[in-house]
Amino acid sequence: MTGRRKLIAGNWKMNGLKAQLGEVSAIAALASERTDIDVGLFLPATLIAAAAPLAGTMLIGGQDCHAQDSGAFTGNVSAAMLTEAGAGGTLVGHSERRQYQHESSADVAAKAAKAHEHGLSVVLCIGETLETREQGDDIAHGFVADQLIASLPEGADPSWLTIAYEPVWAIGTGKVATPSQIAAMHAALRVALVKALGDGPGNAMRILYGGSVSGDNAADILHTDNVDGALVGGASLSAAKFGPIIAAA
Ligand code: 13P
Repeated sequence: MTGRRKLIAGNWKMNGLKAQLGEVSAIAALASERTDIDVGLFLPATLIAAAAPLAGTMLIGGQDCHAQDSGAFTGNVSAAMLTEAGAGGTLVGHSERRQYQHESSADVAAKAAKAHEHGLSVVLCIGETLETREQGDDIAHGFVADQLIASLPEGADPSWLTIAYEPVWAIGTGKVATPSQIAAMHAALRVALVKALGDGPGNAMRILYGGSVSGDNAADILHTDNVDGALVGGASLSAAKFGPIIAAA
């Protein structure tokens, strides 16, 4: 399917102090040279206000937002707080939050809907554990497709929602999924999206791949069918490492 604009996004996770704002500027400079793709950085909430003025055409996003507007939720960040700080988007449902904060797919759907209500674009993450993958490809495809459908917010639309498939076993491990594993999963997710949203929106929604993407494997991954970009962890922390991934798109 053509017509989907690629998104190359970095997720800095719990990394980044003001000393790293120079990397944000350097990555923004690379992004500004690419009018044919989207580039984004999902930063720690504490860096967003300082990073936003440096971003140029690049999307700056948060890594999570709460499903409620405000209230007694110590330590959480609301969608309105992200917007006010200068973010244009947010991640939701990253596997590290599903695992360590015990977020369910219903929680993720509610967070995505709240983020959209506050004008943020959303990258919704899904993916299977090694244990599930070892039960076989068909089981893994079914598991992730079900997780996708359970995590989709009401009114999900490609104008503001992007999916990121990140196999948990490939995150931070250097063990990247093969192009054929990625193609098969993304094809299954495409079928699920078309069934849930209809032909137009289901085909227009981007599906990114994430998990040990680097300058060495980015070209192969990004030229795989139904791969509409990448969500990059470790290799997004510097322009030197992220630049070749942007260049491969
Ligand atoms: P790595 O690229 O470090 O494997 O992380 C992937 C990821 O979790 C991005 O959200």
